[in-house]
Order: sequence, then C-alpha cells, then structure tokens
Amino acid sequence: MKLIYLAVLITLFASCTFSKQTLISPDSNIQLNFENNEGQTMYSVIKGKEIIIQPSLLGFNFKEQGALDSKFRILGTKNKSHDEEWTAPWGPNKQIHNEYNELEVRLLHETSKIKLHLIFRVFNDGVAFRYVFPEQENLTDFVILDELSEFALADNHTSWWIEADYDTYEKLYKKTLVSEATHVNTPITMRSKSGTHISLHEAALTDYAGMTLQLKEGSNTYVSTLVPWADGTKVKASAPFKTPWRTILITDNAAQLVESNTILNLNEPCKIVDTSWIEPMKYIGIWWGMHIGTETWVEGDRHGATTENSKRYIDFAAENNIGGVVIEGWNSGWDKWGAKDAFDHVSSASDYNLEEVAAYAKTNNVDLIMHHETGGDAEGYEKLMVPAFELCQKLGIRALKTGYAGGIYPRGEHHHGQYMVRHYQKVVETAAKYGIMINAHEPIKATGKRRTWPNMMTREGVRGMEWNAWSTGNPPSHTLIIPFTRMLGGPVDYTPGTFDVMLTNFKNERVAWNTDDLSVTRVHTTLAKQLALSVILYSPLQMASDIIDNYVDHPAMKFLNDLDVDFDETKILNASIGEYITMVRRSGSTWYLGSATNEEAREIDINLDFLDAGKVYDAIIYADAETTHWETNATDYTIQTATFKKDDTLMLKLASGGGQAIVFKESRK
Ligand code: NOJ
Ligand code: CA
Repeated sequence: MKLIYLAVLITLFASCTFSKQTLISPDSNIQLNFENNEGQTMYSVIKGKEIIIQPSLLGFNFKEQGALDSKFRILGTKNKSHDEEWTAPWGPNKQIHNEYNELEVRLLHETSKIKLHLIFRVFNDGVAFRYVFPEQENLTDFVILDELSEFALADNHTSWWIEADYDTYEKLYKKTLVSEATHVNTPITMRSKSGTHISLHEAALTDYAGMTLQLKEGSNTYVSTLVPWADGTKVKASAPFKTPWRTILITDNAAQLVESNTILNLNEPCKIVDTSWIEPMKYIGIWWGMHIGTETWVEGDRHGATTENSKRYIDFAAENNIGGVVIEGWNSGWDKWGAKDAFDHVSSASDYNLEEVAAYAKTNNVDLIMHHETGGDAEGYEKLMVPAFELCQKLGIRALKTGYAGGIYPRGEHHHGQYMVRHYQKVVETAAKYGIMINAHEPIKATGKRRTWPNMMTREGVRGMEWNAWSTGNPPSHTLIIPFTRMLGGPVDYTPGTFDVMLTNFKNERVAWNTDDLSVTRVHTTLAKQLALSVILYSPLQMASDIIDNYVDHPAMKFLNDLDVDFDETKILNASIGEYITMVRRSGSTWYLGSATNEEAREIDINLDFLDAGKVYDAIIYADAETTHWETNATDYTIQTATFKKDDTLMLKLASGGGQAIVFKESRK
C-alpha cells in the first residue's frame, strides 16, 4: 500500500492562524501546498524545484450570502490514497491506471456559517481540486455569482489558446505569451522556460457553467470566469453540491500531456450497466457536398439526402469496411434553420424514405447514423427528443450526430452556460436509455465525461474540417495544436480524410452559401497528412469526410479501409506543440502510425520498439512523395510495402504540411 506523504505545520501567532498542509504525488515529484492564512484559503504547486502555481486564492461570490473569500476556519482534514486499474469500453487506451493522493479540507465560513469542503488530488502528472458543499442546515438552494479560483502562474509562459467565447470553440489557436492571452477558453496549454508543460482545464462538467480564464491585469494570474445565465448569474445549485474539478496537468514534455488520463480519471466510473451496444466505428456521410456547396440540406434540385444517394453511400460503406453512414438534410425543417421550432426530427424530406434507408442499411450490415440539427433550439429539442429517440430505437439506429449551429433558444442562454451544460447532459443520459451513442456538434467542451457515460463518444468543439470548405480554412499548424489543447478533454470529431484537398473533383458546380469567396477554399494539408490525421485526431466515431466519388478506386482508400478505430493502446513517439507529432495506436496485434508536421518539412527517426519481440510485421506505408508540398503539390503520395521487426528503426519523411500513415500487421508468413 502506498503511503501518503502528508506533513502538517501549524503555527499559531498572537491573534491569527496560519496553517499549511502538504500533499505529494505518488511518485513524489509534484507537491501541492494548502494554506489557510488568517481565514483566506490558498493553494500552490511545485514540480521538483520548479514553482508551477504560486499561492492562489480560492472562494466564491454568492448572490444571497455575499463573498466567501475569507473568514474560513478549518474544521478538520482527511486524507487518502487511491490506486486502481480500470478498463474502458473503447480507446484510445483500454487499461487505465488511476493513482493519486487526496486531501480533503473541511472549512467553515465563519460569518455565513456555510460549510465547504475543498478536495485536492495530486497525480503523477498533475493536480486537481473541487469545491463540495455538503448537506447542511445553513445552505439549501444557492446562486453563484462568481467563482474566485485563481491560477497564479510562476512566469509569463509561452501558451497555446483560443479566445474565450461563451458560444463557440471553433477558433484558430494563438501562440503567445500568457500576458497576451487575457481571456481564454480552456484547455490553455503552456510551456515554461525549463520545458515543463502545463495545461489548465476542468473535469466532470455535469451541472455547472463552463469555465473561462481571465488574466488579472499586470500579472500571470488567471481567475475563473464562469459563463453566465441569461439573468447574469452563473450557477444555480442546491446543497449537497460539487463543482467540476479544476485541473492542472504538469508534464516534462508535450507527449506526456497527450498520454495523460488524469482528466478522465477525475470522472466517476461508468453508469451504464450493459455497454455491449457501444461500439466505435468509422463512418462516411452525405455531408461534405453540402459544405463545399455542390449539394444542399434543403430540399430541391441539389438535395443531397435522397433515398437513392443514401443507398449509394450505404453500398460504398459496406464494400469498404466503413461501419456507419450519416445523412444530413434527411428531415424537414432545413428551410427554416435559425427559427424557433424549425426542425422536425421524426418527419422525412419528401425525397427521402427513412424506413427504406434504415432497412437497406440493416440488410447491408451498415449503421445508419441519425442526424438531429437543432439550430441551437435546445428548448424545442427537449420536447421532441423522446419521440425522436423512440423512432431511432424502432429502426435499430444506435448512433446520433447532434448539432447546435445557431443562437440558443431560450434566447440569452449560451452554449457553454449551465442551462446548456444541463441540456447536453440530459441528451446523453436519455440517449443511453434508448441505446444511442452521441456525437455532439457545437457542444460543451470535453471534460472526460465519457468515463461515466461511454455513449458520449465524440464531439466537435473545434474549428474542424468544415471550415476549409467555406473560409480561409485551417492552417497546417492547426491540427498540430489540437492534440495538446482541445483533445486533452477527449475525442474530437474533426472529420479528417478529405482526399480532394484542392477541392477540384465534383460533378455539380459549387454554389457559395457561407462565404463570399470560394477561390480561397481548400484543405491546407497534403493527402498523406489526411490519412495521418485519421490516426492522430482520435474519434471513436471517425469520419472519412470526403464525398465517396473521391474515394472510389483511390489507392489510398485502402488505408481508411484497413483502419480500426477501437484502439487498445496509444503511444506518443515524439511531439512538439504546433510543429509535429508521431503516435502509434494498437488494435489487437495491428499497429497504426500517424505522423504529421506543420509548414516545415521534416525527417523524423523513430524506433519500432513498440512492436512485439520475435514477430515480423508487414507494413504498408502511405507517405508524401519527393516533390509533395501542401501549397504547390498537395496530392502526390507514395504507397510502399516493407517488413519490420522490433529492433528496426525508420525515417519518416514528411513534406511541408505533410504526414505519413503506416499499418503494421503481424506477418502470416
Ligand atoms: C455544423 C456541424 O458542425 C456540421 O457538421 C453540420 O454539417 C452542420 N452544422 C449542419 O448540421
Ligand atoms: Ca460546427
């Protein structure tokens, strides 16, 4: 059994109290100090000799009771160690180690008589804390105006972040010093001068407002800023109540950040008893055509979701080892997108026969993925959700893509406020009852909730592939920042896999619908990088995003055909934020490698020591060609075969904006 290294120093002064408690990580590298200094509660964090967080205040502003930021008395402390292995129903890692030391500090707020518990956990790769309001006489229903958690960084670190926005995470990342990152969404990821990587985020966001971080002027201190309700308050709660965890990942390098399971581990164990129906799959869809403007969601001449076209997609999926097909624009209401109660989630468009398509998918052993665009009308959707889920269940549909593209109804609420956090949670829990897996677009941020609700498969919450269809798009470095920021919360439905990166192959003419200038639109990668991103940007529902016409007879389609997305294990071989990443993911005895770079061409040497000793592997290597360059010659690629063993090394040659993908299959010879 592990020991808790807990030292308690209590120093009594004439009229004030100072008390300090120290909690150390299981491997002793990270230390968290809790202090109560004359009634003010603070924490600080050190890794080795490096200060990560300087003394930082904790507390709240309540609507009725006022400030809870001083006058705290410690009633007692409790500590424990936890060491557990658990098995996740799906990847990117199935065997998960959850080890930490915990300190609970029980506080009494002396003026309001409110009891508040602070829970701190220290892991080998980070720390977390949450506030718990136990059941008590002096607190029943309460309203939080502000949470006052501080994160006083020790230096003006280099940071990767997106601007705070209460309604969208679909933004390009910026790389600046902390001093220029004045109001950010989380995760924000930083690198200190010594190379330590730090990422601030939250875990288990279930019934609370999303947290943004605001920099205190003239300092390196972030303060939690919660997304408001329409009435300006932040959180409505009743004791007993616990906040989400505030998380600080702290690792020696960028690769370890990606390998961390701490955010996942801070969530409660699985609440779904039988998870056998929850299965990762690849999918294609009647989707990209609408984004590039060759088809429409709305009924008419160019309507994509016809029965006939849907069957064509189902045939292609069945022939190419693709598990599912999503069909957008199948229902009525798209002509009213944006209006209240616009969408009907049970009635088909006039040229689409849902029953027929669902039956055709079943016969072909393909999952028809349902699509519910709400246009942001969460209120309307809550009324229609149950009949819509009943319909899915009746038709044997077990996966659903939701969308909230538009301002929230009720007006004044935000995508990331408590109203919507509750809504998204309700959708996941109701879906679980009907045996439905969720892929949410315009979602609340990922905070590891898939541990508790593993039918919450994937979500967008990122500036994804679609932006390349109708804007200046995503630069080559964008997908090299996502694994170290957005994806620390969980899987992402970025939808890689567009082969026609220059947007030149289509039958119908493109009609602009979301941009004035189609001439600037293209995908800003090489073709090989699209394959690599299907490995790197993990999603248990992983889309191959192009129209199927661009996959038919394409030699690189073999990679997407061979790819398995139910990974058992993942290893990061090398990584630098915004520059490059190489990772391998194992499914059974097959390994899939994805390596990608930003604008800079690279030669990356790797060891194949992840392979099993004594075995020979047949590899298919999908690489950029000699003259490939994302700007001038994006679609040239090579496919080569080779055999490898554990002791071998390999040099990956990546073009500017390029990548490489490899399948290593155990040799049957
Ligand atoms: C935005 C989603 O991100 C996209 O995938 C979808 O096609 C549109 N909304 C329409 O629902
Ligand atoms: Ca979107």
